[in-house]
Amino acid sequence: MSSFFLTTPIYYASGEPHLGHAYTTILADVLARYRRRAGEDVLFLTGTDEHGQKIQEAAAAQGVTPLELCDLMAGRFEEAWRDLGISHDRFIRTTEAEHIGVVTALLERLRDNGHIYEAEYAGWYSVGQERYFTEKEIGPDRVDPIAGGPVQRIREKNYFFRMSHFQDRLIRHIEDNPEWIVPATRRNEVLGFLNQPLADLSISRPRARIHWGIPLPWDADQVTYVWVDALTNYVTASGAIDPAAPGPTRGFGDLRPSRWPADVHLMGKDILTTHAVYWPTLLMGADLPLPRKILAHGWWVVGDTKMSKSLGNVVDPLDLREQFGTDAVRWYLMREMPTGQDASYTPERFLTRYDELGNILGNLVHRALSMVVRYRGGTVPDAPSHDLAAETEAALDAYRQGLEGYRLHAGFAAAMDLARTANGFVEAREPWALARAPERADELDRTLATLVRTLAVLAGMFEPVAPVKARELATRLGLADVPRFAELDGLEIAGLHVTVGSPLFPRVEAR
Ligand code: MSP
Repeated sequence: MSSFFLTTPIYYASGEPHLGHAYTTILADVLARYRRRAGEDVLFLTGTDEHGQKIQEAAAAQGVTPLELCDLMAGRFEEAWRDLGISHDRFIRTTEAEHIGVVTALLERLRDNGHIYEAEYAGWYSVGQERYFTEKEIGPDRVDPIAGGPVQRIREKNYFFRMSHFQDRLIRHIEDNPEWIVPATRRNEVLGFLNQPLADLSISRPRARIHWGIPLPWDADQVTYVWVDALTNYVTASGAIDPAAPGPTRGFGDLRPSRWPADVHLMGKDILTTHAVYWPTLLMGADLPLPRKILAHGWWVVGDTKMSKSLGNVVDPLDLREQFGTDAVRWYLMREMPTGQDASYTPERFLTRYDELGNILGNLVHRALSMVVRYRGGTVPDAPSHDLAAETEAALDAYRQGLEGYRLHAGFAAAMDLARTANGFVEAREPWALARAPERADELDRTLATLVRTLAVLAGMFEPVAPVKARELATRLGLADVPRFAELDGLEIAGLHVTVGSPLFPRVEAR
């Protein structure tokens, strides 16, 4: 069985989960569910980023210890993911002992390999992004160029990782592997960034300023820079490094059989540099293989403004879920945003996408099942069911290409188009007219069987994005579960007992 290891970023345990976090996580969940349906052995990793100045300050502001805040917030994220139907296999927290051990081993490995040195550092630090920016990046207004937040002037002793040493190797890797960073616009951005000489990376902070972090193994007065700590979670969870391994290689010389390298790291474009520059060079420094792919998605904006706490326009996916159901939120996010590009959240577009579920898919389910009940007593007739075979095959092809090529919006558009085609097929066949002509019973049987088969396929296609409704659809079709893709061809539908039930996507009042 082939395996697939995919990751989301680990979210800062300082803020509540919002639409942006939900998007990355649902994107990962859809891919994980799709891969499982295709028969792969999936490891889907998510979690929380729990060290650093941001957490330390948030905890202080709330009068709790950092760990108390992290315990609370990790719980909040896990709860949100449960409510949104996320099927992760592992939820990692960077305060776990295993992770602290792996970060410590990684730092020692980098140092043993001669890639670490000590120096005085002066620069502009953004607590919001937990990173330094150059004079040029912060511009004349001296704000962090990503979120526009404040930056502070810092001068202190840090340890550095010789990132510059790996610049050429990284450029070559990106050039030799055109699909390594997707979409191509993001790849070009990274190459553009690498046009300038790459600076070395400060990997520690004085404990006197930030105490909430992993101490450096060779200098307890310094704690590990939170991005080095956080990125390493992907390796921790893979199981490659045994932090208790004896000997000078610290578990790196002799990797444990593991899930490393990851098949894909998913993230928003705001944290592409850390994933496509810091992370691969750190891995090179520690002699570990690089992840197979890095996918940076776009940003959700609200109307035409940034979503931000200070503007008070942060969209809470859990509110939407209460009104429309989990699957509707998932559908909207996956169908509306072309994977990789920015998209704008508006309540109107949300409703349009919701209506599409009801008017096309929901409507098809309702009318097809009602007709099986009305004309055949609820039992699927034993008849050829291939009147939409070519259309189904084409839709499945487009769907697979979409999901495997990281163009999920296109994959799901193909699924919805198949439902649309099936509605057109009902109009063209006019089963109600066939039902009035007893000599055309065979034709009616065939029509109904074709519709039921198409619905079984649609249940499979929609399951990754709408798991609750897909399961409900399978139940109404009389199936024990949503069929896997490999089962669809030989699926026996004759004799299934269907039930109609209430609308899958009910009209929502009080809009
Ligand atoms: N802790 C770091 C990641 C460390 S990974 C080794 C971090 N955390 S975060 O809580 O800020 O969440 C980051 C994720 O949320 C990113 O994928 C980011 O793009 C996503 N989003 C946050 N706001 C967003 C939008 N408005 N729109 C889309 N996604 C955005 O960064």
